[in-house]
Amino acid sequence: MTTSNPIILDVLDGKDVKSIPIWLMRQAGRYLEEYQAVRKISGSFLDLCYSPKMAKRVTLQPIERFNFDAAIIFSDILVIPDALGQSVQFQEGIGPILEPLRDLSSLNCLNMDNLTNHLSPVYEAISDVRLELTRDKAVIGFSGAPWTVATYMVEGGSSKDFSNIKQWAYSSPEEFSILIEILISAITMHLLSQIKAGADVIQIFDSWAGLLPDSGFKKWCVYPIKKIVAGVRSEFPDIPIIIFPRLAGHRYIAIADIEGVTAVSVDHTISTDWLSKNLQNKVVVQGNLDPVFLLSGGAAMKSEVKRILEGLSGHPFIFNLGHGVLPSTPTDNVSELCEMVSVYRRS
Ligand code: CP3
Repeated sequence: MTTSNPIILDVLDGKDVKSIPIWLMRQAGRYLEEYQAVRKISGSFLDLCYSPKMAKRVTLQPIERFNFDAAIIFSDILVIPDALGQSVQFQEGIGPILEPLRDLSSLNCLNMDNLTNHLSPVYEAISDVRLELTRDKAVIGFSGAPWTVATYMVEGGSSKDFSNIKQWAYSSPEEFSILIEILISAITMHLLSQIKAGADVIQIFDSWAGLLPDSGFKKWCVYPIKKIVAGVRSEFPDIPIIIFPRLAGHRYIAIADIEGVTAVSVDHTISTDWLSKNLQNKVVVQGNLDPVFLLSGGAAMKSEVKRILEGLSGHPFIFNLGHGVLPSTPTDNVSELCEMVSVYRRS
């Protein structure tokens, strides 16, 4: 069992259409008491991200508890602005706080020179996880996409209306594209280093892709992802690449059509019917359970999971959520979900 290839890699490769691997976005985190115990002694959230030993521990916790098919490296999308020299802090109960970048001159604080060195603890954690994890599980490396990372860099944290970044992108696209180009380079380098360190799969999170009108979606989501995928593919032609352009709606097709994209991770607002007709003929699909079903559990979760499995398992499919695990999710519900998916794939 432990010597076999990870089933998630066979599914991503299109070789296995019967298995349904499962992992969950934000599978390591506050809903796990063992995570909270490490978090208590880790210092700041970023200290945890940059400690290879502790990052490895929390990466492996959900695998030990639920036997997921893949371990996503414990880190954050905001290590990129931090490594570029922008001030990034995570405040308890608030979330990320960054010194906002609002104009051309503010981009002067960004510097690529120390990027790989600053992020070396992430690469060390990936190598250590790969060594410790059995061969039947995959290690997933990740990064935010330029647009989503830029929203935090420009807004200075989470945002309600994203008016600062949109205004900059709409009214001065040439200027704004300087920031996007810096992020394209930084993110490509970060992903390449993660693959070199041992990541078997990479995922790009474009959590705020759905905010943009069509013209902006092409410019600020499709184009940067295309460049990053091409950059990664030029060095690693075979690495599976998953893109998560959340809330993209029918525009998931534009992401699936990017050359070199292996899989598209979808949110929960899109129907299995649409996905099987429009996306599963192009790429592997991953998703699409509303995290609130996992939070609620019981009969509601069961019937929704069954519906998704029946709707999407005719083609290569990876079970996941439409967004991350919510902090108050009961662990028993996660165990029940894993059991359901595993019984379904054996039947
Ligand atoms: O999936 C995993 O288990 C791997 C780890 C991971 C984290 N963040 C850990 C984390 C991953 C893949 C992310 C991605 C991430 N980070 C995204 C994209 C996915 C999404 O949720 O849309 C985004 C937008 C971020 C930025 C971020 N990080 C925010 C807005 C916050 C604050 C909100 C929150 O949930 O607390 C974080 C903090 C964060 N990242 C935590 C974890 C476990 C919680 C911090 C803590 O434990 O104190």
